[in-house]
Amino acid sequence: MIVTTKQLFAAAYGKYAIGAYNINNLEQTMGLFRGCMDSQAPFIIQISKGARSFTHKNMLEALIRASDGIFPDSIFAVHLDHGDEATCFDCIASGFYSSVMIDASSESFEKNVEITKRVVDAAHAKGIVVEAELGQLGGVEEHVKVDEANAKLTDPDQAKEFVEKTSVDSLACAIGTSHGAFKFTGSQGLHFEVLEAIQKRLPNFPLVMHGSSSVPQEEVARINAAGGNLKGAKGVDENQFKRAAELGVTKINIDTDGRLVWTRVHREFFRDFPEKFDLRDPGKIFMSEYAKFIAHKNEKLGNAGQLELVRKLVK
Ligand code: G3H
Ligand code: 13P
Ligand code: ZN
Repeated sequence: MIVTTKQLFAAAYGKYAIGAYNINNLEQTMGLFRGCMDSQAPFIIQISKGARSFTHKNMLEALIRASDGIFPDSIFAVHLDHGDEATCFDCIASGFYSSVMIDASSESFEKNVEITKRVVDAAHAKGIVVEAELGQLGGVEEHVKVDEANAKLTDPDQAKEFVEKTSVDSLACAIGTSHGAFKFTGSQGLHFEVLEAIQKRLPNFPLVMHGSSSVPQEEVARINAAGGNLKGAKGVDENQFKRAAELGVTKINIDTDGRLVWTRVHREFFRDFPEKFDLRDPGKIFMSEYAKFIAHKNEKLGNAGQLELVRKLVK
C-alpha cells in the first residue's frame, strides 16, 4: 500500500527512523520488498533523476506497482530523491509519487525558499508531501578549518525560518554526512549538536539525514579481495541512527551500501564461477543478499517490527 512519508513520519517521530532506499532495477526492487516484509518494516522507496532516466521513467513505476501486488501487506511511500523543479512538477503530475524532494540547496537561501515554496504549493494541492534541503552535504573535509566546515552545516535559525516560509513537510539537514563511499577521511562524524539545536527550534518537525550509508569495512574488504579498488572507503556508524531518531530524524537515506552489496555479489560470483554467464545466477544471490541487508538496516533504524502498528495508524 502506498502512503505518504508524512503518515510514516507521524508514527515514527522521536522513536525510530524510516529507511529510504534508492532503487534502479528489478532485482533491487524485489530484494527491497522482501527485506522489508522479512523485517516487518514500513519503508520509503526513493527514485533519483538518474534512476528515472536509467531505462524509462515509467519502468520503475511498473515494477513498484507489480511489487505492491506481489507483497500486498507492504506499506511504503514513493519518493523522488534530489529533484529539480521540473522533475518535481513531472512527478506531481504523474499521480504516482506520494512525496517529492526539491533540492535547491545549492541556491541562495532566498532562491531556495522561492523554488521550494512553488513546489510545495503545487504538491499540497494534490495531497503530495515535500522534502527540501538546507545546508550543503559533502565537502566537510578534515583539512578544512572548523569554522569553514561548520559554515556548510545547516544553520538552525535559518532552518526554522525556511520551514515557516515554505510550509515544507520535512527538511534534509547537513550535519556532517556526504553522499557516496568516501565520507570521512579521518575522525569526522555526525554533528549531533546541530541536530539538537534544529530540534529545539522545530519541535516535532521531521528531519532527514542524507548520505547515511555505513560503508561496512567487511564489504569493502570482500570487494577489494575480488578485484575491486575501493581504498579508504568509510561511512556513518549505523549504531548512531537511533540517537539521530531521538533528535527528530525520521528518514535516513541509504543507497551506497546497497550498491556495495551488488558489487560484492557480482565480483565474487564471476571470480568463483568464471565459466558461468546466466545473469539470473548472480541475480538470485543478489536479491537474497539485498533482502538480508535491508532487514539488517531496518533493525538498526528501529523500524523493523513496526509494520502492523503503522497499518493501524494509516487506515
Ligand atoms: O543521493 C544520491 C543517491 O545516491 C542517488 O544517486 O543520482 O546516482 O541515482 P544517483
Ligand atoms: P549514501 O550515498 O550515503 O547512500 O546516501 C544516499 C542518499 O542520500 C540518497 O539521497
Ligand atoms: Zn541524498
